[in-house]
Amino acid sequence: MGVNIVHNQQLTLCCHPLPHPPPSRGRELLFGARRLIMSKPGSKVETLRWRDGGLEMIDQRVLPAEFRYLQFDSAAAVADGIRSMVVRGAPAIGCAAAYGVALEALRLQHQAPPAFSAGLEGGFTALAASRPTAVNLFWALARMRNAWRTFSGSTPAQIAPMLLAEAHAIHAADVEANRRMGRHGAALLKDGARVLTHCNAGALATAGHGTALGVIRSAVEAGKKVSVIANETRPVLQGARLTAWELAQDGIPVTLIADNAAGFLMSRGEIDAVVVGADRIAANGDVANKIGTYAVAVLAQRHRIPFYVAAPLSTIDAGIASGADIPIEERGADEIRGYGATRWAPDGVAVRNPVFDVTPAELVTGLITEKGVVPAPDAGKIRKLLSAA
Ligand code: MRU
Repeated sequence: MGVNIVHNQQLTLCCHPLPHPPPSRGRELLFGARRLIMSKPGSKVETLRWRDGGLEMIDQRVLPAEFRYLQFDSAAAVADGIRSMVVRGAPAIGCAAAYGVALEALRLQHQAPPAFSAGLEGGFTALAASRPTAVNLFWALARMRNAWRTFSGSTPAQIAPMLLAEAHAIHAADVEANRRMGRHGAALLKDGARVLTHCNAGALATAGHGTALGVIRSAVEAGKKVSVIANETRPVLQGARLTAWELAQDGIPVTLIADNAAGFLMSRGEIDAVVVGADRIAANGDVANKIGTYAVAVLAQRHRIPFYVAAPLSTIDAGIASGADIPIEERGADEIRGYGATRWAPDGVAVRNPVFDVTPAELVTGLITEKGVVPAPDAGKIRKLLSAA
């Protein structure tokens, strides 16, 4: 039970490979790699895929210096992969969790029903504890639990493939939602638009196409000349490492900036729109997303630049009244004291590392979903959106 490297290649895209993130449990497991196959990454980024009876995920901790897939064979291994950010981004985390449940069911399918149920419950518990903010994780687990309940009269050997089919359905539906969202959002971007984004809300953060980057991809597919300004996104650098890499794969022009350069570029009229993703949207339209998003939204309002959030309905948490109630993950101090093995802050300096923030709905120009665009979202409009779903 564990994680294996299945593909590994040094990329030529990155001229100055970044130091790798610090070793995690998932990384240690790599030393037990079963096999190593060289392969070229395709231009289409496939974040998660089912191969040879197991789940393969791109190891996002080592991009862009290295491109490799890791193979997962249990719920515990997937939970560790989510926690250590092999996979990250709300919809991708949801898909990974669904496959984690399916893997656990397949692993336990020859056990007697009580042992199977107890083992699968353990898998659900491990996955639910992996990261707290992205609601897609809990949404996907609830959907897998419902599927399990539906098949409760069946044997473990019958339930396991049904749960795998449910995970495949969640994966396919996410790609479809992103494509629809992309088409709705693309209409908001004018030809030649320079679009600022924060973090990575692309194919790497989803089952494919992306949410915020999906809007940009769809605009490009529609023939618009859109270019991207990517915030580097401290502390884990999803913008510098992932967004810049992913857009380069598709030949979409991207310019990387330090997070604190966004205000300057806005003040010079160099940004036409902001499009970001979301990890959880409260019932009143408040948006939890990567730390720094709130600051970008305030700047956008100051400069009268439209601020759009692109997210599927699975990111809306109708059970949370406002952003104040969204659980915000705090990660380790070393992510702030330096990066990877490099340390630039004094040893032992006190650190706060909240990795998400909340943008109040009043700063959101429009919420782009697979069901259409909700201008100036509020509680009433969100309720209507969900009831029409
Ligand atoms: O900590 P991460 O990388 O999982 O955070 C991801 C983000 O905040 C993304 O912007 C968000 O999930 C949208 S993903 C489509």
